[in-house]
Amino acid sequence: MALIIIIGAQWGDEGKGKIIDYLSKKSEYVIRFHGGNNAGHTVINSYGKFTMHLIPSGIFNKSSKAIIANGVVVDLEVLVEEINTLEEHGIKVKNRLFISPRCHLIMSYHKILDLLLEKEKGSAKIGTTGRGIGPCYADKVSYNGIRIGDLLDKKVFSEKLKIQLTIKNKILQALGATMLSQKDIEKELFSLLDKVRPFVIEPFSIIYSALQNKKNILLEGAQGTFLDNDWGTYPFVTASTTLTGGTNAGAGIHPNQLSKIIGVAKAYTTRVGEGPFPTELLDSTGEKIRTEGSEFGATTGRPRRCGWFDIELLKFAAKINGFTEIAITKLDILDSFPEIKIATHYTLNGKKVNYFDGDSNFLSKVKPVYKTLKGWKESIKGIKKYKDLPLNAKNYLKEIEKLVGIKIKYISTGVKRNEIIKT
Ligand code: GDP
Ligand code: IMO
Ligand code: MG
Repeated sequence: MALIIIIGAQWGDEGKGKIIDYLSKKSEYVIRFHGGNNAGHTVINSYGKFTMHLIPSGIFNKSSKAIIANGVVVDLEVLVEEINTLEEHGIKVKNRLFISPRCHLIMSYHKILDLLLEKEKGSAKIGTTGRGIGPCYADKVSYNGIRIGDLLDKKVFSEKLKIQLTIKNKILQALGATMLSQKDIEKELFSLLDKVRPFVIEPFSIIYSALQNKKNILLEGAQGTFLDNDWGTYPFVTASTTLTGGTNAGAGIHPNQLSKIIGVAKAYTTRVGEGPFPTELLDSTGEKIRTEGSEFGATTGRPRRCGWFDIELLKFAAKINGFTEIAITKLDILDSFPEIKIATHYTLNGKKVNYFDGDSNFLSKVKPVYKTLKGWKESIKGIKKYKDLPLNAKNYLKEIEKLVGIKIKYISTGVKRNEIIKT
């Protein structure tokens, strides 16, 4: 098994949590390397149902260690809540969770600014999760960030916070918001730190020695390829690198060390937030997908926009991430559809065009060209063997495989850990 990375092949919420929970049975380390609590990874196993925002979804496997590596931005309040929830459910976290001191802190002003900036933009808003992700990463890259390691030394933290509050309060005031007090922020964060301190340790040597000893490691990608800050549908993206290459900066793991790169895609397409979505269905079929698939955000509860499967997107995701295999999730959601469409490519003004030919404005104008396949009209929920799938479900999967040219290794047929086919 060695080093496997899981990457969202669409706009997030592909069911990465489910696949990670399944694969972590065999992994000794599970690592988050980017994003923050904008992620919501649903895991349903013998412990119950959980939405993991920060702690790697592999924490449910008793023999796995969970690492929040340096590329992740951390809201301490959310982290402490997550630790408490796990402990309440009898999942031991002590000596199993490691958090890099290099992780940047999501501060209260980041969350306020996230919401204020969205409001100021009006109809040009991004539709962020409002968790302070963009402003936190912006501070990181503009040398204004405060890291968990800074918090370990109260004097260092107070000095850094003082400088930031001088700047941030000017911005907040200009935007008509209430100014923040150093005392209040310190009080809150110092008390949260007491709970988190035992887990803060530089994980590089742990990761490095695990790699040298050929341990089984899972890298848990968050968000999805088309939310990548460079290659996604900018500006309707997130603030981090969501692609395979993000592991180098985000966890100190270089691409050459990866043994498998698994792209996770839903059997149809969804997106939360604003931005172009060529195969979006604004009709009753889209509504049916949303209802059947319970397509409401795991983090914000917002209804997800729904549409048919988009081969052009998966092809691009496969190229840019170097997928070695694909996992298709939520195939069971299509059980009752008499016909299922696949967008095979895009055209613009009658000419074939690629995803990467243009920007978001360009993508909002392309026309998807569909191939219609027959549905299977029977329940495949919980099927564990490929041979037990109806012919039309096999044909649908074969069509995707043929068009993308990459093996579908996993087919998820339900929410639970064991409702999956390994081909
Ligand atoms: P993630 O962010 O990629 O981990 O995905 P989310 O957890 O945000 O959203 C995926 C949703 O689909 C969750 O509610 C999962 O429980 C659910 N899910 C995952 N795989 C399957 C599947 O194969 N079938 C069904 N019915 N639901 C699934
Ligand atoms: P998981 O890991 C789906 C989207 C937001 C918004 C854009 C920017 O669960 O797949 P942000 O708060 O990151 O600044 O918002 O990115 N977004 C996600 N959409 N799944 C996610 O994570 C997402 N994380 C961010 O909806 O459009
Ligand atoms: Mg999610």
